[in-house]
Amino acid sequence: MASMKAVRIHHFGDEGALNYEDVSVPEPGRNQILVKVLAAGVNPVDWKMRKGGYPSVDEADLPITLGRDVCGRVAAVGSDVENCSEGERIIAFIGEGRGAYEEYALVEANEFAHMPRFATTNEAAALPLAGITAWQGLFDHGNLQAGQRVLIQGGSGGVGHIAIQLAKAKGAWVATTVSGSDIELAEMLGADQAINYHEESIEEALEPVDMVLDLIGGETQEQSFAVVKSGGILVSTVQEPSEALANLNGVRVAWFKAEPNGRQLADIVKLVEDEKVKIVLNRIFPLSEAAEAQRVLEHEHSRGKIVLELL
Ligand SMILES: NC(=O)c1ccc[n+]([C@@H]2O[C@H](COP(=O)([O-])OP(=O)(O)OC[C@H]3O[C@@H](n4cnc5c(N)ncnc54)[C@H](OP(=O)(O)O)[C@@H]3O)[C@@H](O)[C@H]2O)c1
Repeated sequence: MASMKAVRIHHFGDEGALNYEDVSVPEPGRNQILVKVLAAGVNPVDWKMRKGGYPSVDEADLPITLGRDVCGRVAAVGSDVENCSEGERIIAFIGEGRGAYEEYALVEANEFAHMPRFATTNEAAALPLAGITAWQGLFDHGNLQAGQRVLIQGGSGGVGHIAIQLAKAKGAWVATTVSGSDIELAEMLGADQAINYHEESIEEALEPVDMVLDLIGGETQEQSFAVVKSGGILVSTVQEPSEALANLNGVRVAWFKAEPNGRQLADIVKLVEDEKVKIVLNRIFPLSEAAEAQRVLEHEHSRGKIVLELL
């Protein structure tokens, strides 16, 4: 059986728990495609999983290959998969139980979309998980409509920078919180108001909004209640918002886990091709340096996405 390189964990821990090792190339099932990975996006879920802080992966599931975002060339196609041929380039947010930090990855038929024309493979690999999370948060859970006002807490990160642009493409008015050095970036992405969260309070800086997309949690989430209109909604990717604060402020709340969705991904790809969504890359690392990539994502200032490149 052919072998390949993969980045796996055999136990939970710090970056040292990541092993760059040889494993067998998997066989695609009837409803799967095998993808020669060209680039893999790095997301906070990857280091949370590595540390044992992701509820649906526990010690008994190990070893696992990390990574949920892939851009690659189709190497083999399962018999039940339609709209996909060997040699095509695709992107996917990969479901739980499979990985992307590896030379060949398995993708389900309902997870992929064709790679956006005009994007590089590194940009394309940065899009799926962040794009789908932003889409599901804004539209499926927040039901954001054209003309509404939305605040995106954490607008310079992987999810936030895409969320700003999806909300603008929908016709919403968009405010976002970022570090001072990212104000220009947020405005370039289309934000109508960019607030430096280190220096300004949203309560003082911002008129009430219909929706908050919370990508930060903690105190930032709590403070968000003060700026949501009565009857508005606070949607979080990070933690369940307080029911008590929701009732007190007359605000609806939602907390969700993003799910792979190839159709939504194809809609996001179209927005990239129409130049409504730009993908901002922070740093690129080789697959063998996945540990350093995760360290940077977890501990350093984040601006856009980090990607592992497989040459
Ligand atoms: N539920 C789900 O399915 C789901 C899906 C995707 C992501 N998530 C979670 O959502 C969160 C964001 O993900 P991501 O990929 O965007 O992470 P990321 O790329 O690491 O970005 C986080 C951003 O937050 C900013 N930030 C930190 N503290 C802030 C504050 N108090 N106010 C405003 N911005 C602040 C950082 O900017 P500075 O460096 O300038 O501080 C950084 O740009 C993570 O916790 C992730 O695990 C959940």
